[in-house]
Amino acid sequence: MRGYEAVYRQSIEAPEEFWREAARGVDWDVAPERIRDDGRWFPGGRLNTCHNAVDRHVAAGRGDQDALIYDSPVTGSARRYTYRELLDLVARTAGMLRGLGVGAGDTVVIYMPMVPEAVIAMLACARLGAVHSVVFGGFAAGELAVRIDHARPKVVLSASCGIEPARLIAYKPLLDAALEQASHRPAHCVILQREQCRADLTEGRDLDWADAVRDAEPAGCVSVAATDPLYVLYTSGTTGTPKGVVRDNGGHAVALHWSMAHVYGAAPGEVFWAASDVGWVVGHSYIVYGPLLAGCTTVLYEGKPVGTPDPGAFWRVVSTYGVRTLFTAPTAFRAIKKEDPSGSFMKNWDLSGLRYLFLAGERLDPDTYHWASDLLGIPVIDHWWQTETGWPIAANCVGIERLPLKPGSPTKPVPGWDVRILDGEGNECPPGVEGAVTVRLPLPPGSLPTLYRDDDRFTESYLSRYPGHYLTGDGGYVDDDGYLFVMGRVDDVINVAGHRLSTGAIEEVVSAHPDVAECAVIGMADELKGQLPVGFVVLKAGSPRDPADIERELVALVRERIGPVAAFRRAVVVTRLPKTRSGKILRRTMRDIAAGSAYAVPSTIEDPAALTEIAEAVED
Ligand code: COA
Ligand code: AMP
Repeated sequence: MRGYEAVYRQSIEAPEEFWREAARGVDWDVAPERIRDDGRWFPGGRLNTCHNAVDRHVAAGRGDQDALIYDSPVTGSARRYTYRELLDLVARTAGMLRGLGVGAGDTVVIYMPMVPEAVIAMLACARLGAVHSVVFGGFAAGELAVRIDHARPKVVLSASCGIEPARLIAYKPLLDAALEQASHRPAHCVILQREQCRADLTEGRDLDWADAVRDAEPAGCVSVAATDPLYVLYTSGTTGTPKGVVRDNGGHAVALHWSMAHVYGAAPGEVFWAASDVGWVVGHSYIVYGPLLAGCTTVLYEGKPVGTPDPGAFWRVVSTYGVRTLFTAPTAFRAIKKEDPSGSFMKNWDLSGLRYLFLAGERLDPDTYHWASDLLGIPVIDHWWQTETGWPIAANCVGIERLPLKPGSPTKPVPGWDVRILDGEGNECPPGVEGAVTVRLPLPPGSLPTLYRDDDRFTESYLSRYPGHYLTGDGGYVDDDGYLFVMGRVDDVINVAGHRLSTGAIEEVVSAHPDVAECAVIGMADELKGQLPVGFVVLKAGSPRDPADIERELVALVRERIGPVAAFRRAVVVTRLPKTRSGKILRRTMRDIAAGSAYAVPSTIEDPAALTEIAEAVED
């Protein structure tokens, strides 16, 4: 078997040959003759992603294997679905959507908690060639409205409620509020009624999910072009308007299928668990599509790492279902470590089947790395990727060759990704020198071909800074052994408990407060969540308001407009913001102060005392 270096080299030097071979891992209605053309992968190829994720496994004799295991400590229930059962449910749900007029190319917004119907809905859209857009449940009505207006769905699929450990989240009132705010009108909303809370349905527009599916005729798979979109997933950019990351059908199926074996070392029939949420890219790629494309059993977990009911929750799931590969965000492990530092809850469970722990979504701090690997005694693998890329850019590809691990590094670029560290002038940085992490074009299959209805923003955001390269937005360096170290975002995107947020979006909300003259929102280092947003606000001259009241109002406003997931809890009133003499807020310096890193006082600063004030507020 070839080692990492040989496989990597081939993927960069002969990408078409490399991906032609990988494309044999999926079923095509029309096999692609051309591998890459005009910036798109597999033009001319035709396939159906749902067929590849479900039908073909039934046809190949996996019908009785579990496809999906739903485990829900928040409802005290669990259920297994074989591939055959999943096929039946997906086909009927697709039939229901077709009956509502959804066809290839139409969009469907899915706003749902972590229930099997969310996965079934995604696959049902894929079956019809319809484009799904899943919106994370922790977003507020306003964020949902923005996505509905941009995606213009024919149908919205939702549920009566989501269940957080401390409270029920009634989704339907949020959806109704979003539809009131949005100018686009979907023809129908289909609502899954959960027993914990029933939703009122609007006559004529809303349908009860169970009734609608019961009466539906199963629908077959619609053949689509490899370059047709499978889904749009909105993610935070540097402004308040989210970016609609597009994923195509062909490149995505090929790349994800390839990644399951080569990055994760997962074989068909194995149990693979990504403890994330279907609202994020990790959920799309490694709860739903990756494991199912590979014929694995995937686990859908409606719970938390702690508090549902205790820090042994992950060990229970791993042991009960024989999980071979666990994937989550470092913050989940920090939460477990905080409540159970000695790992005593682990001792109640047989974890001998667990082979790898993969972590991503934010930087894996060496402390958490050591804690997890000492306790579990298995490789703990940091890997780095983004919503845009859809699958890992850098990882220890255990399915090719297990390389030695270095704490703090996601190891080396994954085959297909030509990672280059560039300085401000676009020259490559020597080993050890930090710069912008970029990927030399072409990007491999599975990565975003564009932003939904916004080709210009795609080019401007990702391709214009360094011609011929994709800009990741992360800073980092490569060491003498070729190991990549990703140090964090160099833009206004922050990562809160593995959730990606835009400080720009929070600033838009904070600035809308009538007493706020100007503000800057910065990600502050946080031991548990990695980062937390903190607002620094300057009040309008003469505002008589008490800063504590303003803070309370701003916290409530962000929660109401963006959602609880923003975890915005601090807004510090300051007398002025640090600025350059030309009036630009010194965000970068503020970010360094907030991150606890060394910072230099820029020579262009207008009033150095403004920086001191921020540093003192951060100290507090
Ligand atoms: N629907 C509605 N509300 C949600 C939600 C959802 N799907 N997910 C989170 N929220 C709410 C939480 O209830 C919380 O509300 P609160 O302010 O009333 O307490 C708020 O959003 C913030 O959530 P979170 O940042 O997740 O904090 P937490 O204290 O609830 O949990 C962790 C902390 C570490 C346990 C949790 O963040 C976690 O499990 N993270 C794993 C990360 C992950 O899955 N990342 C995905 C990429 S891999
Ligand atoms: P998202 O699009 O939500 O997956 O967030 C992507 C961003 O999360 C990246 O640009 C990084 O800033 C950060 N990130 C994800 N994985 C890692 C990792 N393994 N190490 C460091 N940062 C990471």
